[in-house]
Amino acid sequence: MSAIRYELGSDQILTLTIDMPGQSANTMNKAFREALEKTVTKVKGDLENIRGIIVTSAKKTFFAGGDLNELHKVTRDDAGFFEDMVNGMKAQMRALETCGKPVVAAINGTALGGGFEIALACHHRIVLDNNSIQLGLPEVTLGLLPGGGGTQRLPRMIGLEAAFPLLMEGKKLRPSGALKAGIIDELADSSEDMMAKARAFIDANPRCQQPWDKKGFKLPGGAPHHPAMAQKLAIAPAMLKQKTKGCYPAPERIMAAAVEGAQVDFDNGSLIETRYFAELAIGQVAKNMTGTFWFQLNDINAGGSRPEGVERETFKKVGVLGAGMMGAGIAYSTASSGVEVVLKDVSLENAEKGKNYSENLLAKKVSRGRMTEQKKMEVLGRITATDSVADLEGCDLVIEAVFEDSELKARVTAEAEPKLVNNGIFASNTSTIPITQLAEASATPENFIGLHFFSPVDKMMLVEIIVGEKTSDETLARAFDYVQQIGKIPVVVNDSRGFFTSRVFGTFVNEGISMLAEGVHPSSIDNAGLLAGMPVGPLTISDEVSLTLMQHIRSQSRKDLEAAGGTWQPHPAEAIIDQMVNDHGRKGKAAGAGFYEYPAKGKKYLWPELETLYVDSEKARHVKLQDLKDRILFIQAIETIRCLEEGVLRTVEDANIGSIFGIGYAPWTGGAVQFVNQYGVKAFAERATELAAAYGERFSPPALLLEHTETEKPFS
Ligand code: NAI
Repeated sequence: MSAIRYELGSDQILTLTIDMPGQSANTMNKAFREALEKTVTKVKGDLENIRGIIVTSAKKTFFAGGDLNELHKVTRDDAGFFEDMVNGMKAQMRALETCGKPVVAAINGTALGGGFEIALACHHRIVLDNNSIQLGLPEVTLGLLPGGGGTQRLPRMIGLEAAFPLLMEGKKLRPSGALKAGIIDELADSSEDMMAKARAFIDANPRCQQPWDKKGFKLPGGAPHHPAMAQKLAIAPAMLKQKTKGCYPAPERIMAAAVEGAQVDFDNGSLIETRYFAELAIGQVAKNMTGTFWFQLNDINAGGSRPEGVERETFKKVGVLGAGMMGAGIAYSTASSGVEVVLKDVSLENAEKGKNYSENLLAKKVSRGRMTEQKKMEVLGRITATDSVADLEGCDLVIEAVFEDSELKARVTAEAEPKLVNNGIFASNTSTIPITQLAEASATPENFIGLHFFSPVDKMMLVEIIVGEKTSDETLARAFDYVQQIGKIPVVVNDSRGFFTSRVFGTFVNEGISMLAEGVHPSSIDNAGLLAGMPVGPLTISDEVSLTLMQHIRSQSRKDLEAAGGTWQPHPAEAIIDQMVNDHGRKGKAAGAGFYEYPAKGKKYLWPELETLYVDSEKARHVKLQDLKDRILFIQAIETIRCLEEGVLRTVEDANIGSIFGIGYAPWTGGAVQFVNQYGVKAFAERATELAAAYGERFSPPALLLEHTETEKPFS
């Protein structure tokens, strides 16, 4: 069976239905390329009998895009072959585009990446008016570029300026948005309507040419040499660099392909695009991002870390204890996914305040036209705010998010557990207290688990699931189901103080603060964080977390360690934190004063006294930026390897995804373990040893890393 069905009707309209055998979605792989070549040859032979062509799909989606399995394997040695292959396929699409007959894309479902590029190569695009359909060119989010003509056709269709955000940010649009953006031509109410409209277009346009193939074509919005456009393009690369910090080659190459391509004819533009595409596809950043954001994330979403043999559960009623910042967010995310929520606090007033948080978020959605008033009321109707434990009766799951206090947590556990359904689960959202310790208050510790959400809960996609010593596999599997039910990404870790994410996060902020202790200028420290690819610098984030919370966590960890007979090794950051809080009253952003000043009006700025107190001007002048950047990425990667070594982390997938979605570890790296793999385990260990000699033992390669260096085996 061919991947493209060829049906020439008695009305001389040819319908090409893409239906790749053995795949749930159509992708641009070898089978597709071969089918396309055969189809185009046949079209050429039949051309006299064809009035027009409709391209559609037999799958639920229109076309999923490039085949990432293939792309992920391309190496530098294959680059020439890869370019030829891409150009070959584009030549087939171009042959259809220039055959003289009208070609219409009847888009029955989501068309992303290569799929949308097929549609762009048609003369007319009609899309089913269904809000679940997504259209766009998201290749950039995997470190790639739209290599199927997207960087050439889109600017020629809507102009460079309008095309940039779609190409360089990978924005996906719903059908109505795509129509407004001018990247599709018509909406259809039903499949029949879509096909009728396609036929009508063919009837009305017996001969068809793309605008860019017509004589005298002018790029909408102006060609690159047009004075107004030239002025904008002169600063565009600098503006882009400000966003990417030079960590992401894909948006830079996309801009280059689009602008350079717009200065030549379409076919030469297409060749320019292929060159940049090949460069990105064989490059390390695309390998990092595709590996983690596609393959590893898919593994996790497919239940890679979920114990097998436990029936999938759908949760119906969830209790949330504590309607503060976290509890309110958990209630919102849970109710938004169709689950009943009982939100309990010490007073009805507190509980209502927590519910109001949902009301505000939902009202914002309604005002932006992203939700109907009725849907808002439905979600709100699912949240019962209460001060009574009795209302928890019949919950399948209760999540506690009360103050970070072991005794209080023990009390609410004992109070709420009896209200759970038989075999119900009790979860704690603690950020630091070991789950095994909290489970001591539970009558059924096998049903006790950690569900560590991140703030703000409605935006943060990750939930770190923490398995206590006694937590059963069944409880883990069911907790995993809950996290997926509310549309979040579950990573699974074993119990330890700080679990995985908080532990690694701690090394990041402490490293930044210890640079200050050495005399490095604070602005160099935060800038080094950004240049390494972290979303914010270590001093900025310390202020947000609050220096007092950091003190509190440290003293608790120290107490526990010493109680267990260990000896505390002070970190060079500790003295600075203590001086900031105790001597200067600078507790962080919420207190209005930390490493930064927060004026009531205007932007925050670094507290000027830092310079007098800490900066060593001689050192600050000679500091190596590469060292600062490496320290920030290395210290987190080393702590992550320690977590693997100690069995806190169970898989490399969880490590990579958890580090990016939980801590913001530089996404270009593909995560904290992929950073080591792509650096080369041996080279990483050597550099870590150098850093240890210069900055402290904490950089010494852990034993597990040394094991890998011997065999030069990447972590997998
Ligand atoms: P919060 O102070 O905003 O809220 C705590 C709420 O618990 C308050 O509304 C309080 O009235 C309520 N509460 C106290 N005793 C209660 C009882 N007996 N029954 C019901 N409610 C009671 O605190 P937040 O920030 O929401 O933190 C809650 C938990 O989540 C803590 O364990 C914290 O460590 C953890 N966490 C916090 C994160 C954050 O970014 N703030 C991130 C991840 C976890």
